This record gives sequence, C-alpha cells and structure tokens, in this order.
Amino acid sequence: MNLIVAVTKNNAIGKNNKLLFHLPSDLKYFKSKTINNVIIMGKTTYLSLPKCPLPNRTTIVMSKDMLFNPPNTIVVRNLKELFKILNNYDDDSIYVCGGASIYNLLMDYCKVAYVTVVDEIISADTYIRDIEKSGFRLESSSDPFLENGHIFRFKTFVNNNPKKFQNIEI
Ligand SMILES: NC(=O)c1ccc[n+]([C@@H]2O[C@H](COP(=O)([O-])OP(=O)(O)OC[C@H]3O[C@@H](n4cnc5c(N)ncnc54)[C@H](OP(=O)(O)O)[C@@H]3O)[C@@H](O)[C@H]2O)c1
Repeated sequence: MNLIVAVTKNNAIGKNNKLLFHLPSDLKYFKSKTINNVIIMGKTTYLSLPKCPLPNRTTIVMSKDMLFNPPNTIVVRNLKELFKILNNYDDDSIYVCGGASIYNLLMDYCKVAYVTVVDEIISADTYIRDIEKSGFRLESSSDPFLENGHIFRFKTFVNNNPKKFQNIEI
C-alpha cells in the first residue's frame, strides 16, 4: 500500500485538528493519486474533512467507537479488521491518508510514500515518524512550488522491505 502526506521539515502534519497549510496544488495532487482508489484514515481526520466521505473513493475509517457508523464508509475497529478488508483490494490502489496515529500505525506496511515536504520548521500538535528514518529512501523530488507564501516539493520515497499485511493473523 501507499502513504500520502504533507509534512514540514520537522515532521509536523496538523494543529487543532486541521491541516497546517492551504496548498491548492497539493490538494490537486492528493486527488490525482487517490481518485477511484481506497483511502484509509482515522476518525479524527475523517471528521475534519469539509465533505465526507470524499467523492469517488472507497473510504475506510478506523475507529473503536461502535456508535460511529457514517454512511458510504467502511468502518474498521482494529488492525485485524482493516487487514481483512484490504485483502479485497489491489495493494497499489490503497492509500494511507492520516492522521498521525494511522500514519504511525501503517507506515511500516507501505511500499511508496508520496510526501509533500513544506520547507519550514513549525510548532504543531501532531507529528509523524520521520519517513527517512523508517526504512524509506528518496526516489524522486519535484522542483519547488510556491503557494500562499509556502515553498514545498512533491517527493516520492520507497520502502524496499515493507511489512506484509496480506493474509496475516494478528
Ligand atoms: N498533513 C497531512 O497530510 C494530514 C493528513 C491527515 C490528517 N492530518 C492531520 O492529522 C491530525 C489528526 O491526526 P490524529 O492522529 O490526531 O487523528 P487520526 O489518526 O485522524 O484519528 C485518530 C482516531 O482514529 C482511531 N484509531 C486510531 N488507531 C486505531 C486503531 N488501531 N484501531 C481503531 N481505531 C483507531 C481512533 O478513533 P476512536 O477514538 O473513535 O476509537 C482515534 O481516536 C489533524 O490535525 C489532521 O488535520 C494531516
């Protein structure tokens, strides 16, 4: 599976249950990668979306809250349930979309990480594990973009030895 995230140089991804930046090109990039594919997110991220579920994607939300059952969404209560469902989909079509608890939970199972790196160090309340210290190596980087005063690049990282989630018992 894949991971897609926008992160600062110090691995910050969110504050007050919101994204740190409004970067229209990054939103387009996110859409181009995830459209018609499967996206996995935690309940907090799901509830932070302006429109849920996002259209034209299969949305899987992780939550232990048995009362949380939003329409047109697959809710899984734990990792075992998640992996069982993911066996129904092509590995390359699956995108881990946050937030921090879900990135940190699933990063080791991801083969490719699409990382929008914002060239800033920010004080936030939500951080992820460092991608490059987690078995990923940089494969490519775009030229820099400048939007709303922020410089960022689209980087692709590859993990040559992801953990297997297919058909495993937990
Ligand atoms: N920069 C980016 O690319 C990006 C992308 C996405 C999100 N974000 C940001 O990340 C922040 C949210 O991250 P977060 O870590 O606080 O929340 P989150 O990962 O979106 O959601 C956390 C919730 O997911 C559920 N969950 C987590 N692990 C689980 C497990 N093993 N089994 C079942 N359910 C599980 C729990 O829901 P229950 O409490 O209901 O059990 C938990 O409270 C926000 O600021 C958001 O804007 C940034």
